[in-house]
Amino acid sequence: MKIEILQTAAQVNAKAAWHFIRRAAFDGVLTGVATGDTTRAVYALVAALYETAPFDTSKIRICALDDYAGIEGDHPASCSARIRAQLQVPLHLRSEQLILPEAFPGTPDAVAQAYEERLTSLGGIQTQLLGIGADAHLGFCRPGTPFCSPAHAVQLPEDTRQMLHRKYTLEIEKLPRCGVTLGLKSIMQIPELLVIATGTAKARAVYDSLHHAPDERIPASILQLHPNVTWLLDAEAASLL
Ligand code: GLP
Repeated sequence: MKIEILQTAAQVNAKAAWHFIRRAAFDGVLTGVATGDTTRAVYALVAALYETAPFDTSKIRICALDDYAGIEGDHPASCSARIRAQLQVPLHLRSEQLILPEAFPGTPDAVAQAYEERLTSLGGIQTQLLGIGADAHLGFCRPGTPFCSPAHAVQLPEDTRQMLHRKYTLEIEKLPRCGVTLGLKSIMQIPELLVIATGTAKARAVYDSLHHAPDERIPASILQLHPNVTWLLDAEAASLL
């Protein structure tokens, strides 16, 4: 496990952006992308770098870590829509360069299973960008998620639904109740992981994930058992270490 502490969030974003460009665009490996405020800043930088000095994006293949079930695929709150807006549009990716759960029909459970099978048939995700929740969740794998979980459907907790209500002014009755996420086992099978955390709100989760013995109450603590994970932190996120 590698822990890299950089002074500012801007430095973290730059390092993560270059990781994405190197692995997804230059190496052309299937790259998993988290959506959230942390990674949004990274993708904005990738887009800005592309705008300034366009690089070859033809080999890029990206896939979502998680998504809501039951909201329109083009709703701005959906993770698929955010990946399209933050990466596909600015990098001019063709739709076949994106692998998204929304492409699979069925119940959320069936979607999760079909999505994971599709990723496996493509040779599996080779590198994954991860954010971390303030409770150390990864994707939609909240505290208590079994370490052995494959991709699965989840009931969304109330705080997530309220966040969607506030942030995207979604009407209460249109709020999704379910999500689809890669599981902790799925994440552990990816050969290379980059966890990005910035800001004081993440300091406790970072500390617990790195210092507490692996425990299902702290989802990201499982990463201590991963052979090739880099934690990329700014000084604030690392402040309790
Ligand atoms: C969210 C998402 C994750 C994201 C994480 C951190 O719930 N499901 O994909 O990485 O939590 O989000 P943020 O970067 O906005 O703090």
